[in-house]
Amino acid sequence: MDVSTAVKQRISTRGFLDTPLPKAEVEQWLKDAQRSPSGGNLQPWRVIAVSGEERDKVVQLAAAKLTGNPRGEPTDRPIYPEHITDAQNARRFRVGEMMYEKLGIPRDDKAGRLTWFMRNYNFFNAPVALFFVLDERVGHGQWGHTGMLMQTLALLAEERGWGTCMQECWGVLRPSLKTHFGLDEHEMVWCGMAVGIPDKDDPVNALYTERAELEEFAELRGF
Ligand SMILES: Cc1cc2nc3c(=O)[nH]c(=O)nc-3n(C[C@H](O)[C@H](O)[C@H](O)COP(=O)(O)O)c2cc1C
Repeated sequence: MDVSTAVKQRISTRGFLDTPLPKAEVEQWLKDAQRSPSGGNLQPWRVIAVSGEERDKVVQLAAAKLTGNPRGEPTDRPIYPEHITDAQNARRFRVGEMMYEKLGIPRDDKAGRLTWFMRNYNFFNAPVALFFVLDERVGHGQWGHTGMLMQTLALLAEERGWGTCMQECWGVLRPSLKTHFGLDEHEMVWCGMAVGIPDKDDPVNALYTERAELEEFAELRGF
């Protein structure tokens, strides 16, 4: 598969088959993605991959902590910043509407939407999940560089016939995950990623999100 095809066909997969992924293949995938660049080659990331019982334990932890309390635990690194522009807000709204339309869950069915959202905490049935761990003392640059690792993983997953969904929603369980994974004093979980074979029959995987026009995000000067 060429890179352009991988970039075009990657979507956030939110419905997986429960087919397990072999450990050796997951290890090779992680090794391949480690070629991702990072400023000063700091490689500021650490990845914890869970499968089988270890995966299930995380799901159980989430159920115990989030049932009746979907907002979870406080964090000083919220998923969305206090200020987002009107254009950004509109895009966020739009993607939500498109997704729930595919699922047939109407706007006024708040409970139905929440129930569906909570599938995040079962990794949308994916057999493998990654957690991206950062030293909380790093700067904003290192968060960005970790994003490069995540996108490289997502593209290499396409090549393998796997799907991925990045999951910042796990940020609502940072203190619990820190304890659960036995992280060092300064470590924190930034983001999760569900990984597995996409369920092609799941209607949510038919969602192909929109992007702003070129003129909205790029300026070409001096050509
Ligand atoms: C860092 C990051 C975190 C994300 N967290 C979540 C999440 O918690 N749950 C979810 O369903 N999607 C999550 N997404 C997926 C985005 O909603 C998705 O990338 C965006 O709507 C564009 O759609 P696409 O990935 O299908 O192109 C996340 C994406 C990124 C890059």
